[in-house]
Amino acid sequence: MAKIFLTGGAGYIGSHTAVELLNEGYEVVVYDNLYNSSKESIKRVEEITGKSLTFYEGDIRDREKLTKILKAEKVDAIIHFAGLKAVGESVRKPLEYYENNVGGSITLLEIMNELEIKNIVFSSSATVYGNPDTVPITESSPKKDCTNPYGWSKSMVEQIMMDAQLANPKLNVILLRYFNPVGAHESGKIGEDPKGIPNNLMPYISQVAIGKLEKLGVFGNDYDTPDGTGVRDYIHVVDLAKGHVRAIKKIMENPGLKIYNLGTGVGYSVLDMVHAFSKACKKELPYEIKPRREGDIATCYADPTLAKEELSWEATKTLEEMCEDTWHWQTMNPNGYNS
Ligand code: NAD
Ligand code: WQD
Repeated sequence: MAKIFLTGGAGYIGSHTAVELLNEGYEVVVYDNLYNSSKESIKRVEEITGKSLTFYEGDIRDREKLTKILKAEKVDAIIHFAGLKAVGESVRKPLEYYENNVGGSITLLEIMNELEIKNIVFSSSATVYGNPDTVPITESSPKKDCTNPYGWSKSMVEQIMMDAQLANPKLNVILLRYFNPVGAHESGKIGEDPKGIPNNLMPYISQVAIGKLEKLGVFGNDYDTPDGTGVRDYIHVVDLAKGHVRAIKKIMENPGLKIYNLGTGVGYSVLDMVHAFSKACKKELPYEIKPRREGDIATCYADPTLAKEELSWEATKTLEEMCEDTWHWQTMNPNGYNS
């Protein structure tokens, strides 16, 4: 079976993808600098699957180390998760974000060229669509201006990968544009473990539910949406992880360049999320309407048809499961991997 190299594979989406790859019989090698994750997630992946994987602690910007490891491991494909992802922080530290996300990706691509590794799947984001003119968003919807350096870093790396593929037709590139990943593995052993106060909605709600945070601030209730709060396409992380396994199958067919949305096609509002989570944790969740958050858009959800047609993939998990699995992970690990 093919050997898959996961940069950033100890993180939230990477660890769930490692589980699905191992379950399908792939060999998995993880390379992560543990900046935003812990080795405990690797141990848990092995517990869930009953299989082992190879872990290297290292930075994608460390050219020498990465080259040495990739030379020795002889991998068939790379899934490139490694990067910084906090939108607000990226506004304060743009150079750090560009250096890690863009610089690190360039180093990785250069090493791939040198070692003739020809398959890469990249973690992109719906953020590259900016404020879309219409929803649902298809892959041919135009890329637009991003509202923060994090978003631009994704948009730039997409362009760099497309140009690298054009210059080297032997290279296969699949860009996966994730919508809003939430949830956790149903075992409750792996999940999202944000450092400090979460920026994203679902981990914030979850920490209110467990009593670590007092109440949720709802960023605006005057959007042009059914209840006035922002609408997003929340996708269960296990569905998302399975999408990566399908992308790996696809990339083995030498597809050249491919771009897929990974979303459910359904949008839920902030208040929908609060009510659904409230059911899962069986508690009222206090919230307060706050001003809009800068850079936010009203509505964003995917047209996931292309992934269904070409990858035979579609999201199957419900909003109820997203909330129940998040709550299960939160209660089993109140302090994340440090519990
Ligand atoms: P995460 O922070 O949990 O995982 C990223 C991992 O990369 C972490 O384990 C971190 O330690 C590692 N890392 C960071 N810089 C590194 C470097 N220079 N060298 C080696 N390892 C490094 O984040 P995630 O939510 O799992 O996201 C994975 C990828 O998906 C990221 O590229 C992110 O931008 C992208 N993405 C995430 C979301 C989301 O909402 N979670 C949405 C769209 C796209
Ligand atoms: C969702 C909704 C908020 C927090 C971000 C990135 C995007 C992608 C996914 C990586 C919005 C509202 C939130 C809170 C709130 N990441 N909200 N109170 O902004 O859609 O996307 O994560 O690629 O690039 O921008 O996700 O979870 O932050 O917000 O009311 O405390 O919840 O206004 O409507 P977002 P989010």
